Amino acid sequence: MSKVIYVLNGPNLNLLGVRQPEVYGRETLADIQAMLEQSARESGFTIEFFQSNHEGAIVDKIHEAREKAAGIIINPAAYTHTSVAILDALNTFDAPVVEVHISNVHKRESFRHHSYVSLRADGVIAGLGTRGYLAALDYLTHQLS
Ligand code: DQA
Repeated sequence: MSKVIYVLNGPNLNLLGVRQPEVYGRETLADIQAMLEQSARESGFTIEFFQSNHEGAIVDKIHEAREKAAGIIINPAAYTHTSVAILDALNTFDAPVVEVHISNVHKRESFRHHSYVSLRADGVIAGLGTRGYLAALDYLTHQLS
């Protein structure tokens, strides 16, 4: 079985660390990647880390994951609330999916309360900051070991 976990990040997450730090904190996406790679290594997994500001590029990466990934962690960012295309792509993926949000979307504007991706996700983590990614990885490595 594949030991690769895909970690997919949607639009504007490339600006983590400088973008609304009062909401998203000061850690960068590179910090998150390094933290996940270390944790994955300790459990015998590897990470394929990806960010795009383009919906179709994320769909293409999910298609790639169909062949290569044991599980997906996805923070679809704003596409969470709009993208049937990402939901449809995830519905073609047969292994576990965890949706992560750095902020607690349920405490924020009402348009952030609905997630298309949650219709497919096996678990959803929101509001734990960047630690949410680690919690998602911990869940997946236990599920898949
Ligand atoms: C986010 C929450 C989304 O509503 C927002 O559009 C983002 C980031 C989060 O990680 O808290 O870009 O997914």
